[in-house]
Amino acid sequence: MTILAVGAAGQFAGLVVPALAERGARVRGLVRKPEQAAEATRRGAAEVAVGDLRDRTSLDRALRDIDAVFYIAPAFLPSEAEVGKGMVAAAIDAGVRRFVFSSVIHPVLGGLVNHAAKAPVEEAVLNSDLEYTFLHPTLYFQIYADPWPKIIETGVLSEPWSIETRFTRVDYRDVAEVAAIALIEDRLRYGTFELCSPGNLNRREVAALLTEILGREITPMKSDPGALGDIPDAMKTMFDHYEHHGLLGNPLTLRAILGREPRTLRAYFEELASARTPVE
Ligand SMILES: NC(=O)c1ccc[n+]([C@@H]2O[C@H](COP(=O)([O-])OP(=O)(O)OC[C@H]3O[C@@H](n4cnc5c(N)ncnc54)[C@H](OP(=O)(O)O)[C@@H]3O)[C@@H](O)[C@H]2O)c1
Repeated sequence: MTILAVGAAGQFAGLVVPALAERGARVRGLVRKPEQAAEATRRGAAEVAVGDLRDRTSLDRALRDIDAVFYIAPAFLPSEAEVGKGMVAAAIDAGVRRFVFSSVIHPVLGGLVNHAAKAPVEEAVLNSDLEYTFLHPTLYFQIYADPWPKIIETGVLSEPWSIETRFTRVDYRDVAEVAAIALIEDRLRYGTFELCSPGNLNRREVAALLTEILGREITPMKSDPGALGDIPDAMKTMFDHYEHHGLLGNPLTLRAILGREPRTLRAYFEELASARTPVE
């Protein structure tokens, strides 16, 4: 059995490759550029296919002799719904049996393109004979990795929406573990699973947690969304939504699937803190 893993060199999607390899699965990692092949291999892919989700010929090549697909849409990809439906069609034509889609929490949020664009992809799968699992993860812990050095340097935790809105979050390594179970075992077949770690901190509380872990004051701030320059309209709409409503979900499903407590934001921050020396 060979599994095609989309985004095999990606910051989040790439975490699915080791989760599969650790379970003895044979992974063909899909990467966009040849220079990303080494990263997919380092993560545990036995084979690499270079292809673009918008290029059907490259997808047909990548899908040859594939039994199951892990699919994730690259963030804010234009025409995300059409690209996703194209991937489903290519998988069907290639004779793929199982399709695991890392979607998003609340795809019914029609005003948010990055949520709503996932619903037609799920619909296309539901209108096929594919075995499927839909994963609905909330905000990833890993989005703190890029700004981490700046948080340490400045002592400021800043995002372009209100300090008060609350978010449920999840460690994408837990999502990757669920994806691997869905691809290899049968127990998650035909399921749609909201994936959240416990807790729903606002930025004030996240900063307080960081202050405790780092032993120095971290100040929560709201940055000016207008100062972000040229960003996709869908991202502006998302920040506007986050100004008024966060993303809230429930950890029960993730806990039940993993058979243990989900990873916590505290543990994730402790990992980041021990990996880098704070600059005073
Ligand atoms: N961030 C969150 O908290 C969160 C929460 C829930 C759901 N989500 C969803 O999770 C997804 C995350 O996407 P991401 O991009 O941030 O993940 P990612 O882990 O960076 O993976 C995306 C991968 O796809 C590759 N890629 C980009 N365009 C491609 C194309 N046309 N054809 C083939 N591969 C392509 C990227 O390669 P390059 O490096 O070459 O671009 C990258 O390796 C989004 O759908 C988002 O809505 C995010």
